[in-house]
Amino acid sequence: MSKPLNVLFVTSEVEPFVKTGGLADVSASLPQAIKELGHEIRIAAPRYGSISERKFKIHDVIRLKEIEIPIGEQKKVANVNSSFIANTKAKVQVYFIASKEYFGRHGIYASQETKKDYADNDERFIFFSRGVLETLKRLGWQPDVIHCNDWQTGLIPAYLKTIYSNDPFFKNVKTVFTIHNLAYQGVFPAASFKKTGLPDSAFTPEGLEFYGKMSFMKAGLVYSDVITTVSEKYAEEIRTSAEYGCGLEGVIQKRKSHLHGIVNGIDHEIWNPQTDTLIATRYDSHSIESKSENKKALLKKFNLEFKESIPIIGMISRLVDQKGLDLIERISEDMIKADIKFVLLGAGEKQYQDFFESFHKKHPSKVGVYFGYSDEIAHLIEAGSDMYLMPSKYEPCGLNQMYSLRYGTVPIVRATGGLEDTIVDVDSATSGTGFKFKKYEAKELLKAIHRALKMYQDQNAWKKIMRNGMAQDFSWETSAKKYATLYRTLVK
Ligand code: ADP
Ligand code: GLC
Repeated sequence: MSKPLNVLFVTSEVEPFVKTGGLADVSASLPQAIKELGHEIRIAAPRYGSISERKFKIHDVIRLKEIEIPIGEQKKVANVNSSFIANTKAKVQVYFIASKEYFGRHGIYASQETKKDYADNDERFIFFSRGVLETLKRLGWQPDVIHCNDWQTGLIPAYLKTIYSNDPFFKNVKTVFTIHNLAYQGVFPAASFKKTGLPDSAFTPEGLEFYGKMSFMKAGLVYSDVITTVSEKYAEEIRTSAEYGCGLEGVIQKRKSHLHGIVNGIDHEIWNPQTDTLIATRYDSHSIESKSENKKALLKKFNLEFKESIPIIGMISRLVDQKGLDLIERISEDMIKADIKFVLLGAGEKQYQDFFESFHKKHPSKVGVYFGYSDEIAHLIEAGSDMYLMPSKYEPCGLNQMYSLRYGTVPIVRATGGLEDTIVDVDSATSGTGFKFKKYEAKELLKAIHRALKMYQDQNAWKKIMRNGMAQDFSWETSAKKYATLYRTLVK
């Protein structure tokens, strides 16, 4: 066997320390899967104020004031803490780049009070990116590959190709840049560029300039050795359409031969109805009747009355435009005419929260809502619902549709990005796992829901669909192997 690789996985969120969405799930489970393949992989993330020192046994590896990071004319200091992700056999070390000034606050990207993005997010992630590279030097740990994720890490490839290009320490280091969501690009005024310390030659349309501003995402796309994104369909969408490419489709098209779509996996230990301790009754494909105990518990949680024959449609979501919530709003009254219950767990934009709140008030016996973040309710929704709704406008991968399959909860999804790649429509194959619609139109969504509700009446057919879904294997191993192969092609 060839020599194991050294990989540093750089991310702005990682479970169980800090999470706003699927990036945190991936940042924990992909490195573990790569480690299980025999490679040495470590993670670097910012040390946010919300990460508990005691709970995670966080310790210092590099003491205060040891690393100086220039931010424009100023010098800032970083220290480095560490902890481990240790919930499986593959224990992965996490380095936290710390600065009270930049990361000592509770929010991740935005203030928890005002909900506004922090005004110094440019400096925070310049500091983080450079801090990561300086940390490696200080530790003397030389990765073969630095695997960067989303805009917050986009400057790392740019630094390596410019001011660190003559540094012997980084001479053989290659970069992978993974797009988890192209809509969040980290675009800042031209003045932010001065703070990076990058040469002026980088501030051009061929570099990281984006219509007179600087774009962290574009830096990652332009300077990385390879680009990946989290499904094959999304890889195609973002380079062929302006709607999905968000202004960067041209840049991505240019790098087509360096772009790879690798679908995310899911953590089969955390999301397993056979062993899940957060649900009411555990079950598998041979005991799917036990799902009804979870259905009961779920309805109780939402103060809704239980009746076995009435299907529950569940949803867990960031409440943002991406998730197709405007479609749900438009069909809500038509949808709720059917004999169903609807439950939602979500946090995000006020306009959507207001809508779901009023939907619940109008139909208190049919609609349950919980605003906030809760792992426990998320697991209960997966276990207790009959159907899972995910009508996304775009979806780079999506994890909840895969969690749903595993829990025998049939997804109703829009055929886009990872939803297209992971769900097989019931009408198009006997091995179908869910209900898909193509056009981003309210009536198409309603049709898909009605198709599902009709099928639900035939419980034998329905159980077959549930079992088809439960038999799918979305464990990380297959995708981790694809990443490892990709790393290997970079390292000669
Ligand atoms: P995205 O990253 O775009 O939000 P994904 O489907 O990839 O979408 O991942 C979302 C992750 O966040 C899932 O693990 C989901 O269960 C979780 N999640 C989203 N909202 C909540 C919430 N309000 N409470 C608990 N978990 C949530
Ligand atoms: C992003 C995407 C989501 C994807 C996740 C993890 O948050 O919105 O589709 O599953 O990243 O890659």
